Amino acid sequence: MEYPHWYVPFLTAPMLIPLVAIPHVVVAQLAVGGGFLLADLTRRAYQASDPGLLAYLRRFARFFILLTVVFGAVTGVGIWWTIGLTSPEATSALIHVFVFGWATEWVFFVLELVSAFAFYYLWDRLPPREHVALGWIYAFSAWMSLVLITGITAFMLTSGSWTPEKSFFVAFFNPSFVPQVLIRTGGSLAIAALGIGLHATFHANGAWKDRLVRWVSRWALGGMVCIGLGTLGYLLILPDHARLNMVRAPMLLVMTALNFGVTLVVIAALALGYIAGHRWVTPPSAVLLFMAGVLAITTGEFIREGSRKPYQVEGYILSPGVRVSDVPLYHERGFIDQTPWLALYLRQRWPDLDRPDRWTDEQRVRIGEAIFRYHCAGCHALTGYNGIRPIIRPWTPELIREAVRHLHRTNPAMPPWLGNEAEREALAHYLIRLQEASAGSAAP
Ligand code: HEC
Repeated sequence: MEYPHWYVPFLTAPMLIPLVAIPHVVVAQLAVGGGFLLADLTRRAYQASDPGLLAYLRRFARFFILLTVVFGAVTGVGIWWTIGLTSPEATSALIHVFVFGWATEWVFFVLELVSAFAFYYLWDRLPPREHVALGWIYAFSAWMSLVLITGITAFMLTSGSWTPEKSFFVAFFNPSFVPQVLIRTGGSLAIAALGIGLHATFHANGAWKDRLVRWVSRWALGGMVCIGLGTLGYLLILPDHARLNMVRAPMLLVMTALNFGVTLVVIAALALGYIAGHRWVTPPSAVLLFMAGVLAITTGEFIREGSRKPYQVEGYILSPGVRVSDVPLYHERGFIDQTPWLALYLRQRWPDLDRPDRWTDEQRVRIGEAIFRYHCAGCHALTGYNGIRPIIRPWTPELIREAVRHLHRTNPAMPPWLGNEAEREALAHYLIRLQEASAGSAAP
């Protein structure tokens, strides 16, 4: 691990990522699905020569572009900020493996921005055909950036047969690429339909509202079919360790149940919208349905990320930011030796760091605490998210020693122990001290 560790109490640093990434994914999917829906609705409005609907779409386009461009750009950069600080090794690996992928992503992003602004500002100035064509260019370029980013995030879950010697394309077209593109494309259409439904309840009135709701519901139901197919493919290719996490971790089980539940509610509502038109779209129902869509995206992303443990990149980088190929080196030379910032920190305090036989018990506890921050605190807060204190509260010192020794066997979501014997004993000293302090009267 070549970088300093960012210690975030209570939440753990990686949990800062979803705080930025999930709002970003919701708005980005709104942007992609909204692109397709806007282009198609504008085409239909021209065809039907419906000035009321055209005027509404123009207003919607303005709101839509402002929201997606400003919010999308700010949170998109925010994701780099959080992943760079919390998982620098994995971020660096993704940059290296996908150099041209990022470059291509940027090209489509620029095309997306230019076509979006042109679509709005050239309204009424272009013949309908060209205007609608701009809408489709926007939709296509936004979708392409979804495809590119999905190849990269899917790689983190399923690196497939990729090894560092293999090409970009082996990494990009990894086993969960197609299922995830299907799920995200479908999710985009659905969330955009729910978003337009929500916007229309507050802003639209006119005979065309009924047709609008039926059209967007039809797109979204098509999206739901994509989600269904993608989920099926996803469950088929899911690697063993991820499958195990999904059935073992209570959090992931709850998320999966919630995800299926709200997805069913949304499908039912869309089917109703398709049959009954705008009558079902009242402000409260539209707000609730949009929130159900957001919940479905949030839980879906959480499950994908949560089931990846102990890997940051499957088979390549383990959660504390350690390459799988370097694990023997960690065992041989020790965790501190392989973690320069940690070594620097400890050496400043204890010049005899390289002589474990001279460590005092108090020194062991302090060294153990520092190791905990680098090795464990990415997944365990002390109290809070996956808190280590409540986990070990009823444990005995022997059990704690054994758990550290067989870390990846006590729970396969964890990496193996990555240090030498003296470091393991130091970490155990620290954990036993924690346990003693928190056990209090709970000890039998
Ligand atoms: C990749 C994330 C990750 C890392 C890194 C990690 N853990 Fe865990 N650990 C987990 C998860 C997830 C659980 C399951 C929690 C639960 O069951 O609620 C767990 C469970 C545990 C348990 C309870 C095991 C049992 O028998 O139920 C202990 C003890 C523990 N971790 C200690 C550690 C220590 C010490 C480190 C650092 C050396 C560490 N963990 C690093 C994710 C991690």
